[in-house]
Amino acid sequence: MGKKLLVVGSGGREHALVWKLAQSQEVEKIYAAPGNPGMRQLAECVDIAVENVEALCDFAMQNNIDLTVVGPEAPLTLGIADRFKEQGLQIFGPSAAAARLEGSKAFSKNLFKKYGIPTADFEVFDDAQKAREYAHKLFEQGQGAVVKADGLAAGKGVVVAQSFAEAEEAIDSIMMDKTFGAAGDKILVEECLQGEELSFFAISDGSDYLALLSAQDHKRIFDNDQGPNTGGMGAYTNPPIYTEELKQSIIREVIEPTIQAMQAEGCPYQGVLYAGLMITPNGPKVLEYNARFGDPEAQVLMPMIKSDLLPILEAAARGELKDITVEINPGACVGVVLAAGGYPGSYDKGDVITGLDQLNDETIVFQAGTAIKNDQLVTAGGRVMAVVVQADSISAAISKVYGEVEKIHFDKMQYRHDIARKALRKE
Ligand code: AMP
Ligand code: GLY
Repeated sequence: MGKKLLVVGSGGREHALVWKLAQSQEVEKIYAAPGNPGMRQLAECVDIAVENVEALCDFAMQNNIDLTVVGPEAPLTLGIADRFKEQGLQIFGPSAAAARLEGSKAFSKNLFKKYGIPTADFEVFDDAQKAREYAHKLFEQGQGAVVKADGLAAGKGVVVAQSFAEAEEAIDSIMMDKTFGAAGDKILVEECLQGEELSFFAISDGSDYLALLSAQDHKRIFDNDQGPNTGGMGAYTNPPIYTEELKQSIIREVIEPTIQAMQAEGCPYQGVLYAGLMITPNGPKVLEYNARFGDPEAQVLMPMIKSDLLPILEAAARGELKDITVEINPGACVGVVLAAGGYPGSYDKGDVITGLDQLNDETIVFQAGTAIKNDQLVTAGGRVMAVVVQADSISAAISKVYGEVEKIHFDKMQYRHDIARKALRKE
C-alpha cells in the first residue's frame, strides 16, 4: 500500500513540496494543512492552522500518516516535531530545541562563537546603553554595524545601519519602543560584512547530511534591491559564485561543524539546514540559519531535484541519511514572485487572476496567496504566486520565465524585473 503524507503550511514553498512529493512512486495520498487552492489537484486540504500542533498531531494519528513534512518555522519553534515523536509519528523537521538555530539569534550566534563557525563579530545585549557603546566602537573601527532583535521578527528585525545615528535609532526602537515585542528583549549588534549573499541548503538527520543546492533570494520589493524588505520576491538556483570549491568550503567550515555543534549541545539537528551566508573575501560566513526550506527558494529547488524526495526526507527523519545520495538536474531554475500591489504594506484581496491557462506546459506555477471565489481564482495574500521555469542556463530560464509572467494578470500585480540578472554578468 502506498504512503500517506501530511504537508504543514499554505504558501508557495508548501505547494512546491506537495508538487515534488506527489511525483513519488511510493505516495498514495497527500494532505495539506491548511494548504491552498494550487495544491488541490495534488493534495486534500484540511482546515487546521499551522500553529495548532495538537490538532495536527490528532489528524496524523487518526489518518495513519506515514510522514509529516513541516514547511514554516512557527510550528517547529512550538515543538511540533517533539510532540509527533512522543506519539511515535514520523516527522521531517527539527525539535524545538534544535529549531533555536533559527528562532533565537543569541543561541545561534553563541553556538557559532563556541564552536568556531565563521560569522560576523557580535555581542548580545539586554541593555540599550551597552548596545549603543558597542555599535559606536564598530563604527569607529570603520566596520559598520547591523542591529538585530533576538527572537523571530518575520525577517523584519534586522537593520543594516549606514551610520551610528541609524544604529542608535534601531537599538532604541527594538529595545525601548518594543517594535517587535518580546523578540526585542535581547538585541544583537554585529559587524557589517561585505560580499555576496548566498543561501545553501542541506538536509541533516542529526549526524549525517546531504548537500542539496544553493540559491539566491531577492528580498527587496523593487528592482535593483530598492524599497522595503519582503518575504522574498524571486529566486534562482546555483548562482555563478557557487563553485565546487566554494561548496566544499561551505560544507567543511559551516555545515559539518554546525551538525557536530548541535550534537554536542544535546540537540541534534534533523531537518533542513538553510544557511544564509555572506561570501566574503575571507570565505563564507554565516549570517543566519533557518530551520526550514526558504520561500521562494523551495519553489526553485524542488524542480531541480531529480531524485525521489520522499526516501530522502524519511531517511533524515529516521536518522539514516548516511548512505543516501541525491541526483540534481542539470541547468538552472528561475522563479519570479507575483505580488499584490501595495505589498509588503497593505494590499487588496479578491482580484481575479487570469492567464494561467495560457502558460507553456513546462512552466510551473506555485500558488501562495490565492483563493477561489465564485469559481474563479482570486488574490488572497501579499505574495500571490511564483512562476518557475527550468532551463539549460540561468539566462535561458530568465527569458522564458518573463515571457510567461507577461501572460498572467490581476489588478495592480507587481513583480521584480531583475530576478537572477546579477548572475548574467558572471555566467
Ligand atoms: P538575517 O535575518 O540575520 O539574515 O539578516 C537579514 C539580512 O540583513 C541579510 O540577508 C543581510 O542582507 C543583512 N545582514 C544581516 N547581517 C549582516 C551582516 N553582519 N553584515 C551585512 N549584512 C547583514
Ligand atoms: N526567502 C527567505 C526565507 O524563506 O527566509
